[in-house]
Amino acid sequence: MRIIAFASGKGGVGKTTIVANLGIALARQGKKVLMVDTDLAMANLSLILGMETSPITLNDVLKGDAGVWDVVYDGPEKVSIMPASLGLQDTQRLDLTKLPGIIKQVAPKYDFVLLDCPAGIGEDTLAAMASSTEVFLVVNPHSLSIADALKTKIAAQRINAKPVGLIINMYAGLKGEIPERDIISMLELPLYGVVPYDEEVRKTFYYKKIQPVILRNPDAEASKAVYVVAGKILGIEIDIKKQGGGFFAWLKRLFSR
Ligand SMILES: Nc1ncnc2c1ncn2[C@@H]1O[C@H](COP(=O)(O)OP(=O)(O)OP(=O)(O)O)[C@@H](O)[C@H]1O
Ligand SMILES: [Mg+2]
Repeated sequence: MRIIAFASGKGGVGKTTIVANLGIALARQGKKVLMVDTDLAMANLSLILGMETSPITLNDVLKGDAGVWDVVYDGPEKVSIMPASLGLQDTQRLDLTKLPGIIKQVAPKYDFVLLDCPAGIGEDTLAAMASSTEVFLVVNPHSLSIADALKTKIAAQRINAKPVGLIINMYAGLKGEIPERDIISMLELPLYGVVPYDEEVRKTFYYKKIQPVILRNPDAEASKAVYVVAGKILGIEIDIKKQGGGFFAWLKRLFSR
């Protein structure tokens, strides 16, 4: 059982996108996965996964108004999801000290619990990192993102959370981007993968059926990169071609369920 918090410091670098797609990639490898939206004020994990508004959420559990298992929902590809509230009123009276206990209670049922952290290193992010067994930093190849990730790493260490790895997202190969080796040496963490900037990711919300890129287009460069990250986390090499799209690949998956 691994509980991984995905944090970044800087907002909008792709934490939620990585968590949603990686969770599905891990589930496709036969792992039991729970994704938790710990972004309690600006929840969007359930939206990316194309779920309807959930009647009760993690916010209710943190208020003491609901039980833990009341807020575990079924997502795509057999993943479980613990959503946070989309409402504006639901951030009051939240007892964040309860979060580690909540995660501890559900985690034994899963191989992986992925925590989608908010931006910043406020109380909510710290509570999520304190609930984890390991922290991954998601960064973009730009100095501000790297500076904020470094701050986040230090904040994690101060509360005895364990930063273990790095995912570079939105790598576009443009002039001015910080090279991979420099990012690794600045953050002093092993690299688990480089996810390119890919327009296919943006198409998540283009169509009536909202779907993360890994489901909608498994052949997209970003999808393949996420499979590489999943493989590295699992310590195996995933044959990306076998994860890819095409009618027959889809049929094979359907029949192997
Ligand atoms: N590899 C990528 N290529 C292109 N667009 C991307 C990529 N990763 C994420 N995006 C887009 O960037 C935007 C921000 O992504 P996302 O919401 O996952 O970031 P975040 O770090 O969770 O943000 P926040 O800090 O607000 O929670 C989204 O529109 C998403 O579709
Ligand atoms: Mg997010």
